[in-house]
Amino acid sequence: MFERLESVIPDPILGLMAAFRADPDPRKVDLGVGVYRDDRGETPVLEAVRRAESALLARQSTKSYVGSAGNPAFNEAIERLVLGDEHEARLTARVRTVQAPGGCGALRLGAELIRTASPDSLVHVSTPTWANHSPLLSGSGLRLERYPYFDPATGGVQFDAMTAALERLPARAVVLLHASCHNPTGADLSPAQWRELLALVKRRQLLPFIDMAYQGLGTGLEADAFGVRLFCAELPEVLCAVSCSKNFGLYRERTGAAGADATFSQLVRIARGILSMPPDHGAAIVHGILADAALRTAWQGEVAAMRQRISGLRHEVVKQLREHCPQRDFSFIATQCGMFSFFGIDTAQVRELRARHHVYMTDDSRINIAGLRRENLEYFARATAQVLAG
Ligand code: LMR
Repeated sequence: MFERLESVIPDPILGLMAAFRADPDPRKVDLGVGVYRDDRGETPVLEAVRRAESALLARQSTKSYVGSAGNPAFNEAIERLVLGDEHEARLTARVRTVQAPGGCGALRLGAELIRTASPDSLVHVSTPTWANHSPLLSGSGLRLERYPYFDPATGGVQFDAMTAALERLPARAVVLLHASCHNPTGADLSPAQWRELLALVKRRQLLPFIDMAYQGLGTGLEADAFGVRLFCAELPEVLCAVSCSKNFGLYRERTGAAGADATFSQLVRIARGILSMPPDHGAAIVHGILADAALRTAWQGEVAAMRQRISGLRHEVVKQLREHCPQRDFSFIATQCGMFSFFGIDTAQVRELRARHHVYMTDDSRINIAGLRRENLEYFARATAQVLAG
């Protein structure tokens, strides 16, 4: 049966991760996969996570099943984190959450829910969007279309083109939005644009599906949730996929949640059919942190430190690039949010940076700002200058 299957090329992000690991050059710079790194280039276990994990190991009395919806205490804690304690959708139990194996698991659960309700739905994603959105969503049988989003000329959002395209969609069309820290461009909607988009979504009766993978790493834990909170307050139906990979540094623990209104039993049925039950460990840690005032405060401090480091690097790399590549304007990097920016060089230049200078970014020139270090900023800027010079 399987001999007819052809081998496929590796996922662009994971393929790059493997290539970077295999490169023995000590100067190598990893701007590929979206994981946070500190100034030593490491992705440490957060201190709050360590403490919550030790407490968990000491008190855990069973490894028995948790159930298809996952840990209800984690689900509630995530709802509070995403929506805030006093959000109307939470207080009136309009929002229902199931735990998921990471943001990807949550996206897939959401996609399956859409397909169950409306098998012919089209999901409209931004141009560009995260490379794994397409396999995750189309893998459940949904078709994808694109709407304009990123404006390479300004490094911001082409809001007029975006809204003009969304205005033409039929009722019940699904629109995938990034809550903050847009992956791969770093270009986010402003609060005023979220408000304008809300009016459009209401008028056109669209279904927003919001991917929230970076809460706290853009502008702040509250500010990064602005769009989600607004939409959940004002709309009868919203789907939301939440990831704890980046803001809790729990990447490999696969911790996330899918939240929706009034579809809990369907989400639980879908989860049972796909994965039976989500993994428990990461969710138990997140709950341990969010439920303990001291741990929560410590964690908020660590998230703020990650955010500030990324934002500081954005300004420093612009300074270095200005010095070494004065002919090109990279100032847009300092105006964007979260881990990623589109560097704006072509594929041949990306490959040359990789081959000659051991600087790794995806072929579309997405860079993970957190992969830079103070000690290699100048190296990166000089390498870029050489590649731009041709
Ligand atoms: C990324 O965009 O690099 C991360 O979200 C990791 C991944 O799974 O692609």
